[in-house]
Amino acid sequence: EEEKKRHWFVGSIDQGTTSSRFLIFNGEGDPVASHQIEFENLYPRSGWHEHDPLELLRSVEQCIEEAMRKFVDLGYSKSDIRSIGITNQRETTVVWDSTTGEPLHNAIVWPDTRTKALVRELKSRESADSLTELCGLPLSTYPSSVKLLWLLQNVDSVKQAYEEGRLAFGTVDSWLIYKLNGGAKAEKPVHVTDTTNASRTMFMNLRTLQYDDKLLGFFGIDKTKVHLPKIVPSSDPEAFGKVASGTLINVPIAGCLGDQSSALVGQCGFSAGQAKNTYGTGCFLLYNVGTEPVISKYGLLATVAYDFGGGKKPVYALEGSIAVAGAGVKFLMNNLGFADKSSEITALAESVPDNGGVVFVTAFSGLFAPYWIDDAKGTLFGITQHTTKAHIARATLEATCYQTRAILEAMEKDSNHKLESLAVDGGLSNSDLCMQTQADISGIPINRPGMRETTALGAAIAAGLATGVWRALEDLTEVNKNGRKVFQPQMEREKAEKMFKKWEQAVEMSRGWVN
Ligand code: G3P
Repeated sequence: EEEKKRHWFVGSIDQGTTSSRFLIFNGEGDPVASHQIEFENLYPRSGWHEHDPLELLRSVEQCIEEAMRKFVDLGYSKSDIRSIGITNQRETTVVWDSTTGEPLHNAIVWPDTRTKALVRELKSRESADSLTELCGLPLSTYPSSVKLLWLLQNVDSVKQAYEEGRLAFGTVDSWLIYKLNGGAKAEKPVHVTDTTNASRTMFMNLRTLQYDDKLLGFFGIDKTKVHLPKIVPSSDPEAFGKVASGTLINVPIAGCLGDQSSALVGQCGFSAGQAKNTYGTGCFLLYNVGTEPVISKYGLLATVAYDFGGGKKPVYALEGSIAVAGAGVKFLMNNLGFADKSSEITALAESVPDNGGVVFVTAFSGLFAPYWIDDAKGTLFGITQHTTKAHIARATLEATCYQTRAILEAMEKDSNHKLESLAVDGGLSNSDLCMQTQADISGIPINRPGMRETTALGAAIAAGLATGVWRALEDLTEVNKNGRKVFQPQMEREKAEKMFKKWEQAVEMSRGWVN
């Protein structure tokens, strides 16, 4: 049995904001085969951001097929794959018809700000202030609840499906799990979500880990009219069903985690006090607070870090969410034509010794944590005749580092604990300049693992724990230990403080611009 186990593999679907991937990990947590596909991001109006749910599904299925082809080329076979896990962009809201299984609208993606006016109206309601205590999230354009409400108020087919009791709601995990199980055609359709994803909707009570009538009531959601996914732990051999078609037919889906939770798991951040920061499309700092949620007083979110079920208590995190990180680099490439590849943007940033006085508040979706300024707009400060693309590129990278520093300060106040170092991963963490800047601005060492596919690894761990690949977290102590690089703060503190003060000033000045 032990000998057989050594050859077990776990697959991981990572469905992110700009691309989908499928990775196959061995029992040591190393990826052996993978495939990635970028899909279209739709921006139909200023502030709107959508995905085609069927395109998300197709990209995932294609990644599975391509990665499996590479896996088989290496001499392995489908039967070596014990189970698969799913990790996904969070909050993004999908609605479909429960009778046909087809989408009723494009998915509204997490940074979309079309709900701004709706949020303002909701905030003025009497019980608005009591929600955070229950669900961990403040009212903003970010969670799924306001996106669903907007769809119910503005899209006739969604409204009608709701009135007729055939409206199905889910975040991307639910949608993919449903479709991978065969959708409406499955003998028993599978409509579930895990607690980490559910904790991003504003519908789940953080302590009971189930839907809360007070929260649903606040948003006017009648749970007899809408099919809400059943909330289950993140690691389970049966709850997520199994793949219904394609090369992986009949392989169990045994793990599911929102991508930021998954990265914390992939970093093995299992002890209270550990934290990680993932520089993806956005950037999200999760700080493990242990088995009791901590409701923030300083602009952070309380969320489920992971919940491996089996009678074990869930683990919670304080989260600092930044809407724009890699998205800023993409903006420089796609909207301003600065370069064709993100590596060229970082090279551009490296070509100058400093930002030349430029500060870029990349508030394309307002500003998230810890500020929560929903009418902030992207604003460039400090431009002179001396300014070049290189300074703007540098200021774009720095923006995420400053906002991370502001989040660290909030975390310190909420937890009464100063972080000693920060584990990092995600696309922008590949940039040495960006990570050195992060160390300089925040004044703590930045610890980068050799294997940066930690988000995908987390979901593989959840699936592997449910299907015997690993028996317990202790089996993971050797996972992802190699090739670490630590960036020590080098800048004089006075200079770093001055730069951060300028950023804070710029944040204040980015408020209140109405397009
Ligand atoms: O909350 C949104 C987050 O889950 C998206 O992550 O990696 O696509 O920026 P990412």
